[in-house]
Amino acid sequence: MSTSNAQKYRKLGPYEVLGLGLGCMPLSIEGRPSREDAISVIHRALDLGVNHLDTAFAYYEAGGTSENGEEQHNEKLIAQALRTYTGDKSNVVVASKVGHYRYIDKNGQPQWGQQADANYILETAKKSRDCLEVDSIDLYYHHRPDPNPEVTYSEGLEALAKLAEDGVVKYVGISNASIEQIDLALSILGDKLIAVQNQYSPAHQETLDTLEYTKKKNLAFLPWSPLGGFRNPELLTKDQPFEEVGKNHDVSKQQVILAWELAQSEHVIPIPGFRRIQTLEDSLKALALELTSTELETLNA
Ligand SMILES: NC(=O)c1ccc[n+]([C@@H]2O[C@H](COP(=O)([O-])OP(=O)(O)OC[C@H]3O[C@@H](n4cnc5c(N)ncnc54)[C@H](OP(=O)(O)O)[C@@H]3O)[C@@H](O)[C@H]2O)c1
Repeated sequence: MSTSNAQKYRKLGPYEVLGLGLGCMPLSIEGRPSREDAISVIHRALDLGVNHLDTAFAYYEAGGTSENGEEQHNEKLIAQALRTYTGDKSNVVVASKVGHYRYIDKNGQPQWGQQADANYILETAKKSRDCLEVDSIDLYYHHRPDPNPEVTYSEGLEALAKLAEDGVVKYVGISNASIEQIDLALSILGDKLIAVQNQYSPAHQETLDTLEYTKKKNLAFLPWSPLGGFRNPELLTKDQPFEEVGKNHDVSKQQVILAWELAQSEHVIPIPGFRRIQTLEDSLKALALELTSTELETLNA
């Protein structure tokens, strides 16, 4: 399969979105750009046809709280970016998530805590809906299973089903999920479940089973950190073949990585992140990058 222009748009449940969404996390966590620059990145993405923004309740700097306005930093940023955008935003899909929060550990390191009990999910969804300034959230993910053995995965999924029934959210996704969890989610959510968001990149292909399974189940598969995220230098060696193919086309390895992910299947919608307009503009060119079948074979090997 190739990545021609005709295949630029993909199905995310009932929505038609550009093959690449905007992962907004780097615009709000540690190392983020200024608010003005972050808004410019979102506006430029919208100008270039991106119509799918990926956020989460937990995209803020660790150590922030609701008192200092830091919680939901990214959801607030997206609301502001959409409010101030003067172009067409009628088809923009905003996806958020529940199940993580940020904290500083005893060594002073920023961390991601997990909470996904039913009450927390029900309360947090309403905060996200209000913060995003919408009546109903387009797509709402269960961010990650709660490690507390007293909190079952089903109770979180049932809370999400209730949110969909009550119209707080329109559709549901799950993230960091196994095949077993996808099956459980389908049994509880039925056709309200439209997406699975798992880590997937050249360095992280251990979720390939879920990429293939979602295709069979007619669900969208959204690779998170599709370019490898904040990488362990050891894993960078996995990018080498992509760099080589990039040389053939005189393009960045990031374009090749995204074109390779897009070529896996029509149901794959990567959500790369950017702090800079320059990297955003470069990576979006992946939508028009045609990889030959020989190149795809080499990259898949
Ligand atoms: N569901 C989950 O549990 C989960 C977990 C993590 C992330 N996510 C989602 O996945 C999204 C993407 O993940 P991510 O931001 O961690 O990682 P990523 O998309 O794999 O990588 C982002 C990094 O790639 C750089 N980059 C992008 N295009 C480039 C180019 N053409 N040339 C050079 N560098 C380039 C960016 O640089 P600059 O910053 O310099 O622009 C940024 O530092 C997040 O924003 C979030 O929405 C979800």
